[in-house]
Amino acid sequence: MDEHDLDADPIVQLQAWLAEARDAVPQAEAMTLATADPGGRPSARVVLLRGIDDRGLAFFTNRTSRKADELRGNPRAAVVLHWWELGRQVRVEGAVVEVSDEESTDYWNSRPRASQIAGWASPQSQPLAERSALDVRVAETEQRFDRSEVPLPSFWGGYRLVPECIEFWIHQESRLHDRIRYVRSAESWRRERLAP
Ligand SMILES: Cc1cc2nc3c(=O)[nH]c(=O)nc-3n(C[C@H](O)[C@H](O)[C@H](O)COP(=O)(O)O)c2cc1C
Repeated sequence: MDEHDLDADPIVQLQAWLAEARDAVPQAEAMTLATADPGGRPSARVVLLRGIDDRGLAFFTNRTSRKADELRGNPRAAVVLHWWELGRQVRVEGAVVEVSDEESTDYWNSRPRASQIAGWASPQSQPLAERSALDVRVAETEQRFDRSEVPLPSFWGGYRLVPECIEFWIHQESRLHDRIRYVRSAESWRRERLAP
């Protein structure tokens, strides 16, 4: 694989790979998001990639969750997308910013009602005494919004990872895989090949 087979713009390239992945694998948008607390202790979990453009990669979550707490104290993150069937991995690293309230609202309004109820009812990442405590909170939330729209909670919204580097990895049977890393420099991207 020649690095010039990839688009000069890594965002365009990632959009193209994502489109191919959507045709090839279930949940192509699932990505592992790594954050770290201010002391540098890392944590990782899967979230869904809900938008990608020149501004970066958007995902949505509870803003009182562990990941959100960590991002408040240390607003940098890394994500990994891996599509086994395609033999491709993408790694992205950069700073994280909150998306606008308008963008969070638009996404929230596109979610099924059951997901909106769950978003209100679940104190994400907090300990629960038992499963039934969650069921009670769901029932209370359903009652609260009975016959009305479920609005965006003040504690819920989106984040955008603003890429500083993006690496495309392509499996080779020889194990001599291709790794092409793009590093942002001023207004453009510098491309380099890494050893596998
Ligand atoms: C396939 C998949 C998709 C997920 N998507 C999201 C998501 O978009 N947003 C989210 O908050 N959690 C999502 N989760 C749950 C997270 O992995 C995690 O359990 C939750 O966000 C709490 O993480 P935290 O305690 O580190 O904040 C997803 C889990 C899986 C397995």
